[in-house]
Amino acid sequence: MEKARKLLIAGNWKLNKTVAEALDLVNGLQRELANLKEVDLVVCPPFTALSEVSKAILDSNLRLGAQDMSEHGYGAYTGEIAAGMLKEFSVRYVILGHSERRQYQRETDELIAKKARAAHAASLKPIVCVGETLAEREAGATEKVVGTQLKGSLAGLTAAQVEETVIAYEPVWAIGTGRNATATQAQEVHAFIRGQLAQRADAAVAKRVRILYGGSVKPANARELMSQPDVDGALVGGASLEVRSFADIVKNSI
Ligand code: 13P
Repeated sequence: MEKARKLLIAGNWKLNKTVAEALDLVNGLQRELANLKEVDLVVCPPFTALSEVSKAILDSNLRLGAQDMSEHGYGAYTGEIAAGMLKEFSVRYVILGHSERRQYQRETDELIAKKARAAHAASLKPIVCVGETLAEREAGATEKVVGTQLKGSLAGLTAAQVEETVIAYEPVWAIGTGRNATATQAQEVHAFIRGQLAQRADAAVAKRVRILYGGSVKPANARELMSQPDVDGALVGGASLEVRSFADIVKNSI
């Protein structure tokens, strides 16, 4: 299908995969998806596997992402990892503000914006996540919640930096639940996000930003979700942990 923007499909492995398991997965993906050029493919392993995965995918069409990073460049921040350290492993993308971090690590829009600015300063592309809870959707507050998260998480970025940012719409109620947003629900929110970006930056920039959908993306629903005009790819959790399901999502999307 003809898309306005090149599709980007990223696997967020979350807290999964030893180094050995990570290598098995990327070796399998390289076999399944070799020479595929229609989609930008990204894997986001845990920090501990970045070094080995980076070497393993050096000559492939897979690109590397991290799942988080510090807003600081260096210093007394025990346990943190800086953008510059990720760059040592040829990391290109970094997921920021995933709902699990917003929930369990109490990450705020303000913190996510600081991280996004630090990522851009190091030429890493942030994948900034936004999304409402079920209670918020049922209260009719989806646009208010997503709009506030978007504005706050992109605060201080230039229009050029917004253009180099990837947005992931991940409704919290769809993550890990097997209950994906319908294609219509996803398209509605994606179109809203693009409209907000047009106001925040300008229409030309908004047209170029890729907006991914995440939340129970599977081989069976990928085609319909990806066929929506404002859905420019997927951020895949559980189904990115197996070669077969991730490869089938990619193949079903083109
Ligand atoms: P699932 O695909 O497991 O629902 O997770 C989505 C997600 O959180 C990706 O970041």
